[in-house]
Amino acid sequence: MADVLETILQRSSATRLAEPAPDRAQLETLLRAAARAPDHGRLAPWRFVVLQGEARGVLGEAMAEVMRQRTPDAAPEVLEGERRKALRAPVVVAVAAAARPHPKIPEVEQLAAVAAGIENMVLAAQAMGFGSMWKTGAAAYSAVTKRALGLDEADQILGFVYLGTPLARAPVRPAEIDAVTRWL
Ligand SMILES: Cc1cc2nc3c(=O)[nH]c(=O)nc-3n(C[C@H](O)[C@H](O)[C@H](O)COP(=O)(O)O)c2cc1C
Repeated sequence: MADVLETILQRSSATRLAEPAPDRAQLETLLRAAARAPDHGRLAPWRFVVLQGEARGVLGEAMAEVMRQRTPDAAPEVLEGERRKALRAPVVVAVAAAARPHPKIPEVEQLAAVAAGIENMVLAAQAMGFGSMWKTGAAAYSAVTKRALGLDEADQILGFVYLGTPLARAPVRPAEIDAVTRWL
């Protein structure tokens, strides 16, 4: 298992993913890593939908339907391309935030907790030797997708985490801090 700081500094997205995917026990470890994110008020605002094998088709169909609604004259090949997107990795985990009105904890904090959970998940995946890519797109913001995945309409999908064995990875981006930091 890689050192935490090394994993963080060396993290990059996997641009091509294949089998073998994390198995059930490894996926549970990844979900637990996500659920260990800082969580103000212990609201557990995350919701996970794990799509493996044929089940990825549910997401693919939703992506095609969202494209069809946005572009009614989209060619069949375009819709088929959307369907295939969900097959780009052996496992896709849809991560949503069930942020709800709370007297003390604003929505932004609940969303932040779920985003931190996604980052925990991708870092854990990399530390375990897997690759991942955090994606969204129009389907993430559509009620069609939420319905297809069994999420509540009020939930907000923050990411589709594509997981598998990396065949290609993006170069590690330099972590630029000078232009965005003031030292006082
Ligand atoms: C909320 C969120 C949504 C993203 N959605 C997409 C996406 O739909 N498509 C995409 O190519 N990259 C998306 N990205 C960016 C990639 O996950 C990735 O971080 C980026 O390509 C930079 O590469 P790196 O992770 O190797 O540094 C998203 C990132 C975040 C945080």
